[in-house]
Amino acid sequence: MRIGASSFLAAATLAACAFAAPILELTPAERSQLASLSPVERDALVQTILTARDAEALGAPLTLRELGNAGAAHLQRSAARAGTLTRRANPSGSYGPDSVSCPAASGATQPGGGIGQVRYANSNALGSGEQDYINRKRSNSQQAWQQWLSSTGAGPDLDGANGIPGGVANYTSAQDRLPKVGIALSGGGYRAMIVGSGVLAGFDSRNQTANDRGVGGFLQLADYVAGLSGGSWAVGGYAINDWPTSQQLKDGIWDLEKDLVVPDDGKLSYYTDILTDVARKRGEGYPTSITDYWGRALSYHLVNDTKYVDQGQGTTYGDIRNTSSFTDARMPFPVVIADEREPGQLVLRSNETQVFEFNPYEAGSWDSHIDAFIPIDILGTAMQNGESTAFLGRCTVGFDNFGWVVGTSSTLFNSLYSMLITSNNSSDSSIIRDAIEAVAGAVSDQRNDVSVVPNPFGGLENRQVASQSNITLVDGGEDGANIPFWPLIQPARNLDLVVGIDSSADVSDWPNGTAIRETFLRASGNPAFSDVSFPMIPTQATFVNRGLNTRPTFFGCNRSSLINVDTAGNNTISPLIIYLPSYPYSALANSSTFKLSYSDNEVQALLDNSVETATLGGLANSGSIKWSTCLACAALERGFERSGTARPQVCQSCFDQYCWDGVSNDTVPADFYSPPVGTPGFITSQGALRQAPPSTGGNGTNAAAGDSASTDRSDAAAVLEPAAIRGAGLALLFVAGAALLL
Ligand SMILES: *[C@@H]1O[C@H](CO)[C@@H](O)[C@H](O)[C@H]1NC(C)=O
Ligand SMILES: *[C@@H]1O[C@H](CO)[C@@H](O)[C@H](O)[C@H]1NC(C)=O
Ligand SMILES: *[C@@H]1O[C@H](CO)[C@@H](O)[C@H](O)[C@H]1NC(C)=O
Ligand SMILES: *[C@@H]1O[C@H](CO)[C@@H](O)[C@H](O)[C@H]1NC(C)=O
Ligand SMILES: *[C@@H]1O[C@H](CO)[C@@H](O)[C@H](O)[C@H]1NC(C)=O
Ligand SMILES: *[C@@H]1O[C@H](CO)[C@@H](O)[C@H](O)[C@H]1NC(C)=O
Ligand SMILES: *[C@@H]1O[C@H](CO)[C@@H](O)[C@H](O)[C@H]1NC(C)=O
Ligand SMILES: *[C@@H]1O[C@H](CO)[C@@H](O)[C@H](O)[C@H]1NC(C)=O
Ligand SMILES: *[C@@H]1O[C@H](CO)[C@@H](O)[C@H](O)[C@H]1NC(C)=O
Ligand SMILES: *[C@@H]1O[C@H](CO)[C@@H](O)[C@H](O)[C@H]1NC(C)=O
Ligand SMILES: *[C@@H]1O[C@H](CO)[C@@H](O)[C@H](O)[C@H]1NC(C)=O
Ligand SMILES: *[C@@H]1O[C@H](CO)[C@@H](O)[C@H](O)[C@H]1NC(C)=O
Repeated sequence: MRIGASSFLAAATLAACAFAAPILELTPAERSQLASLSPVERDALVQTILTARDAEALGAPLTLRELGNAGAAHLQRSAARAGTLTRRANPSGSYGPDSVSCPAASGATQPGGGIGQVRYANSNALGSGEQDYINRKRSNSQQAWQQWLSSTGAGPDLDGANGIPGGVANYTSAQDRLPKVGIALSGGGYRAMIVGSGVLAGFDSRNQTANDRGVGGFLQLADYVAGLSGGSWAVGGYAINDWPTSQQLKDGIWDLEKDLVVPDDGKLSYYTDILTDVARKRGEGYPTSITDYWGRALSYHLVNDTKYVDQGQGTTYGDIRNTSSFTDARMPFPVVIADEREPGQLVLRSNETQVFEFNPYEAGSWDSHIDAFIPIDILGTAMQNGESTAFLGRCTVGFDNFGWVVGTSSTLFNSLYSMLITSNNSSDSSIIRDAIEAVAGAVSDQRNDVSVVPNPFGGLENRQVASQSNITLVDGGEDGANIPFWPLIQPARNLDLVVGIDSSADVSDWPNGTAIRETFLRASGNPAFSDVSFPMIPTQATFVNRGLNTRPTFFGCNRSSLINVDTAGNNTISPLIIYLPSYPYSALANSSTFKLSYSDNEVQALLDNSVETATLGGLANSGSIKWSTCLACAALERGFERSGTARPQVCQSCFDQYCWDGVSNDTVPADFYSPPVGTPGFITSQGALRQAPPSTGGNGTNAAAGDSASTDRSDAAAVLEPAAIRGAGLALLFVAGAALLL
């Protein structure tokens, strides 16, 4: 018998059975490895292996109390060892979820209605927490919009005769005309995290380069930021750490030189801590998978371990609400997504996937199979009609662990992580290998190389997930829509502009429009998604032939270029979309998706290049049509339409330059897209040159920054399937990922 999600009931049952725990022994290999350890280390390791096995052996009866005792004993020992073996500052807050009295059920009183803890999303209302946050954020931003829009010099400069009719101050005095802006960060491993963060730095008022080039401050004006997979590490890292600069993230938190599998210090405690953490969650009766280990490992690189004890062991995504940038409504509202995989489904199509989202208040989905949210704090609670089915109707808390959330958005790395752990021959990792194999052993059998969440949407009317006991989540980019536009084009959020930062593709590739086109195909390829409007997006060949992937390209500049205009919810229309692809202005920023450690110099080069990507190398601000002005015009366009304000001449010039002109060239590109380092021709020619850049003539392989770089784990991909993964883009990767699950 396995302890189910209703742990209290299970505990009661088990206590009644009162079986003794099975006696678990170490393997001969473990014994000999133990011989070389100090007594203290040995003690810790034995404890961990046994706890992990105990937890795994839940098929055999084991009481919660016994597990609790094992955990407490471990904590006691680790406290005694504080400062030597363990890096834990304070053993409070744990990874294993807790069970508490449920919060007051507010579903039915939410705008749009609900039942119990569940809020319905089908009428396109925002949750009250988010609505309140956005209201505060927008009223805080009014002054800043006015300042930025009327700034002179490098800034947008929209005051005066050719600017906004009536002047900026008059225009921005009406709140509903203020632009509502979102930024979406694509997936792509550490590369996407670094590039995404660097582009944000290029829009950040705290960065001098960004200010000098006129676009600094745009980040502070954004209402939303969304991330998936590697992009979620950037979004999550900014948010949970109270919105530092990307330079601070790099210098103080990421620690990317340190290996994910074999950290330089605290080696043994690293494994024991992670194993014990996950064992405790499992011991409490919750489904666990490699995502739990992966998420814990990620936390060592994403959370400030001075601010959060034990590398975020007890830190939740909801804890973002406690940071001062959030309580002051200064940060863009941070959203992270994953894809839902339905029972029996293995390959995800973008037009069929249900997108699941996590935000600081809620978890759930806007798509029809779920179309509902619950408070994120009680994620992990199995519910029927909004009521917990656990003993005494208690609710789970702590399931939304920060590392687990961003790990869930990036399950593409699960297989890689477990493979690295189990293949590493270093004495530290092999000593624990057997334990992790025991825990992960069930993985391939059960295909649980995913994140499993007890279903909180059980019983809901007209929801396809109503009869499932679990919700299965996988990497947010697994359906190929690798830029998280979806949460930002929802009618409920009704944004005016979304900037999609694309750092898809891999060492032998660069972004080529595939990721954004998938979102168009999704919105146009299934009537169930016709409530969401989006611009028409051309083919990948057009992107490459016409250089749309070398510079910011605006989509949806005219109503006639939008789809689902007549069917979109609440009579909304698509935001204007800026596609902003990563490009090698100063460095080859297309390092491998599976490169899991970077030298300090490599990270800095990617960050600096990404600031160039956001500011167009500074060059586009010198001509008569300034990039900062055009960015502002894109943000203002929907508000102009709403308020019947004529598009200023300067904005018309911007649109003539930056909007996709509707021209396609679907000829298979003559050359492999491999741009040389330097400013793209479109920028240097001030929009005159609309074609692919000269090819480097090579195969596009980034030999300098990619897999062949000297840093240790960079060849992680080779552990998987070298041929398949090296030149492959995401599409191939997820096929590889799916194959590994089989
Ligand atoms: C100033 O804004 C108001 C709306 O708040 C608008 O009615 C008026 O036309 C604007 N003034 C000018 C000179 O455009
Ligand atoms: C849901 O998860 C629980 C706990 O892991 C497991 O016992 C159950 O079999 C799962 N159900 C399905 C349908 O996968
Ligand atoms: C980490 O947290 C500590 C304590 O809150 C703070 O002083 C420090 O500035 C933070 N570091 C970064 C890079 O944000
Ligand atoms: C969040 O902040 C409140 C008020 O400052 C505090 O009581 C609470 O313990 C904090 N929660 C966490 C998880 O830090
Ligand atoms: C195993 O760990 C060592 C460090 O102890 C590292 O140098 C090596 O690259 C790792 N190998 C793999 C395959 O992860
Ligand atoms: C890893 O360990 C195995 C078994 O101990 C050994 O046969 C193999 O040669 C080792 N591989 C490396 C690269 O050290
Ligand atoms: C859409 O309309 C519903 C009522 O039908 C309302 O509750 C919801 O707030 C509206 N959403 C937006 C974004 O206006
Ligand atoms: C375009 O990018 C995708 C994934 O990012 C990749 O699979 C594909 O091979 C690329 N196509 C070309 C022609 O570069
Ligand atoms: C999704 O797109 C594929 C390929 O265009 C199509 O065969 C399939 O029917 C679509 N799915 C739905 C639900 O419309
Ligand atoms: C601003 O961006 C530049 C270019 O990446 C970087 O070198 C610098 O450190 C950043 N400044 C701050 C204050 O973050
Ligand atoms: C279309 O693309 C092909 C392949 O890159 C190129 O040879 C051709 O000149 C392009 N046609 C036009 C009209 O630009
Ligand atoms: C690609 O080009 C690089 C540099 O020119 C070269 O080192 C590498 O071997 C090439 N790879 C393939 C697969 O041709």
